[in-house]
Amino acid sequence: MTQPKLSNSKLFRQACYIGGEWVGAQSGETLDVDNPANGDILGQVPNCNAQDAARAIAEADKGFQVWRKKTANERSECLYRWYQLMLDNTEDLGKLMTLEQGKPLAESKGEVQYAASFIKWFAEEARRSYGETIPGAKPDQHIVVTRQPIGVSVAITPWNFPAAMITRKAGAALAAGCSMIVKPAEATPYTALALAHLSAEAGIPAGVLNVITGKPRPIGEAFTSSPVVRKLSFTGSTVVGGKLMAQCAEHIQKVSLELGGNAPFIVFDDADLDKAVEGAMASKFRNTGQTCVCANRFLVQDSVHDAFVEKLTAAMKKLKVGDGFEEGVNQSALINRAAVEKVTQHYEDAMSKGAQRVYGPVPEGKKGNYVEPLLLTDVTPDMQLCHEETFGPLAGIIRFKTEEEAIRIANDTPYGLAAYYYSQNIHRVWRVADGLDSGIIGVNEGAVSNATAPFGGMKASGLGREGSRHGMEEYEEIKYLCMGGE
Ligand code: SIN
Repeated sequence: MTQPKLSNSKLFRQACYIGGEWVGAQSGETLDVDNPANGDILGQVPNCNAQDAARAIAEADKGFQVWRKKTANERSECLYRWYQLMLDNTEDLGKLMTLEQGKPLAESKGEVQYAASFIKWFAEEARRSYGETIPGAKPDQHIVVTRQPIGVSVAITPWNFPAAMITRKAGAALAAGCSMIVKPAEATPYTALALAHLSAEAGIPAGVLNVITGKPRPIGEAFTSSPVVRKLSFTGSTVVGGKLMAQCAEHIQKVSLELGGNAPFIVFDDADLDKAVEGAMASKFRNTGQTCVCANRFLVQDSVHDAFVEKLTAAMKKLKVGDGFEEGVNQSALINRAAVEKVTQHYEDAMSKGAQRVYGPVPEGKKGNYVEPLLLTDVTPDMQLCHEETFGPLAGIIRFKTEEEAIRIANDTPYGLAAYYYSQNIHRVWRVADGLDSGIIGVNEGAVSNATAPFGGMKASGLGREGSRHGMEEYEEIKYLCMGGE
């Protein structure tokens, strides 16, 4: 067992944070947490069940009664202190994240800043939960619209961004006046528990932010079968998101779902190719290809195809694969064996249908969940990698002839999260923006995620938005007062 060496050892918590207390599972059961880079066991966290979840819901309800009565300014100040503490502990939080998730240390520290930026954003938005007045329907009537927190909220979060996927939900919930229970992925509970520790230091009252660890199914079922829970936010697969949404129907719980993607990255013949390659690298290889907004399919126009492939290959040669703690490494181990097998499967399927391997070795089953970056050309839309999220460092290029063809191929997917394209023709820029069915569009930009923008998808990619002022609306109820005359 390799325990992390941190400057602030209190950040390494191996218990759940419920109602302001650090507690184990009532059954005493635990789950091992490992380092995906070498399989070392880092420690154990409680494997909570439905009874533990029920306790967390009761505590979150008490927390809600306290928190909803605070002024917007008081909530904002607590959030601001939490944000500051995250920044102050960037080094330790980054180490914990690299240990449990694998991502390169520089990227982990970058994620801490990204995660903290949501708390800062929502600390500011907390003060701006404005209502409205509307002219009455009768001469002596006034209509006043107010917003109130929806109530106890729950978040089920993924392993790919162990901090940011929590803060963009919890920041919005707490700013709106809700309490929240976070159920982090089994692979990455330590970052979540460290954030809970910092929330307590920031003065966020007991029960307002809770973290419960364990297998997702019993906890998810406890969340969705409780009428006390008024809101569920989930980031993960479309299949699981759909099941949770069906479960939420019983008590008409509000849902936000950030689900799978299949992002097209289109390079038109009038693109600045160097910029396009820069964007492609940022989009495809961030987090070693393990993001929902990663470019999953490259579509490159005929006349610039070869030049783009050459430039992208040159850029990919600079990628360095290894343990996230090693200097200069920017591509880490994937999260687990299943992730390696999926990339390998997409590679083999594409090769069996006529793709050409331009760069990267044939994937092999090395210890440590590593896959070297791969570039394929002659990719066609019937290949698996064009239909399913690869979630790994495999880039496949489809050649196209016309703008209409590119838009048709780009939209030929049940998903609609992110899409990217590069063009310097302003008319084309607007036409393509209108034509793409995606919630997030990078126009001559490969890095689209930030706290100020509404993140979320269309079609099977989900419901609702996170970040921006829209993120907070997901945790609010609108109430209108119809003020009659005498
Ligand atoms: C995700 O992969 O779910 C989120 C990525 C991001 O926030 O950029």
